[in-house]
Amino acid sequence: MQTLSVWIFGLLSISLTGAHGLNHFPKNFVVAKRNDANSVTLTCGTKSSGDVVWKFEGDELEDGDYEDNLLKNGTNLRVTEVDTPILGEYSCWSGGEMLSSTYLLLEAEDEDEDELDSFINCRAKSYDCKFTCAWTRNEYTAVRLGLGHDCYEGGKLCHWVTSSQQLLNGGFQFELSHSLSPYAEESTMLELTAEAIIDFSIHRTTKRFYLRDIVQPDSPQIVKCQEVDQDLNVTIDPPTSWSTPHSFFSLEHEIEYVLKDDGKTGRSSSALIPKRISKLRVRSRDPLVFSTWSQWTAWKNVITGKTKLCKCKKRNKYCCPELPSGYLKHCQKRKKKGKQVLNEVGHF
Ligand SMILES: *[C@@H]1O[C@H](CO)[C@@H](O)[C@H](O)[C@H]1NC(C)=O
Ligand SMILES: *[C@@H]1O[C@H](CO)[C@@H](O)[C@H](O)[C@H]1NC(C)=O
Repeated sequence: MQTLSVWIFGLLSISLTGAHGLNHFPKNFVVAKRNDANSVTLTCGTKSSGDVVWKFEGDELEDGDYEDNLLKNGTNLRVTEVDTPILGEYSCWSGGEMLSSTYLLLEAEDEDEDELDSFINCRAKSYDCKFTCAWTRNEYTAVRLGLGHDCYEGGKLCHWVTSSQQLLNGGFQFELSHSLSPYAEESTMLELTAEAIIDFSIHRTTKRFYLRDIVQPDSPQIVKCQEVDQDLNVTIDPPTSWSTPHSFFSLEHEIEYVLKDDGKTGRSSSALIPKRISKLRVRSRDPLVFSTWSQWTAWKNVITGKTKLCKCKKRNKYCCPELPSGYLKHCQKRKKKGKQVLNEVGHF
């Protein structure tokens, strides 16, 4: 009967805490293996051998409750056949003072490693020391990532990174740092371990990849469109986030354009494209490792001839030739004049 009350009580508290779940990794936790008859021992961590009281989810465990699954041994608590109802926070008390708190979690059921792998998407904007990863699943309430072998082994030296941002779909975003030299040929893989909590179960997975495999530059910048005879010479700059010097970290660009005459789309890996086009956009990749292409830039309308150059003030919308300095001021003046005229008309 006593044991039963623990179980019912356990179920109740699970459903209560389950409402918000564990939204962080507790300072102390013990992971019980699934289908493992071996017990887990929770230590109180006190030096005194005086009597202590254990609480589960804040409620004192009575002597009778220790039957079957829970066995008090000195100041420690031994838990056997760990399963859902007895997962959660155990705290050890003496004379009204909490000495320690430990969460008992359960190793999650074996899941397809590939599937867990697919929950993590990493991307580096450059070969510099930072990259980002997203955990794309939203049913997990706490996720952390760690780089290196210490994390793979779950060692104390692992530096875990918690989410820097929650994604809109409920996943998590992480910012990680590596210490690879951007100038050296990359010979070692990065080893990334993820731990994710769902209810009181914990998933672990490790992913290995080369930095070059996750490189995806930001979109480049379209600087100008200069007429050269029947062609247009498009000048493109690497994104500001790309590694420098650019002579060493090369990027190739691809231009997509829409022809004025028939509305057909063309692509070019050369900076020289047909002149009679209405708009263009550009993307980049690292040609040495055939990295993922960047996102396309927004479309830019192309200005050729001399009639519409004042539109070049809207540089985000139009790709323009280089203009003589002061040219755009002249456009402003003309517009102001136009306004003045309107105002004067308004006074009549
Ligand atoms: C109680 O703890 C002691 C020392 O920590 C250990 O040797 C002993 O086997 C434990 N007893 C049980 C029943 O687990
Ligand atoms: C195109 O523009 C670039 C940069 O302004 C310049 O270096 C290059 O010589 C130009 N190419 C042609 C064919 O005019």
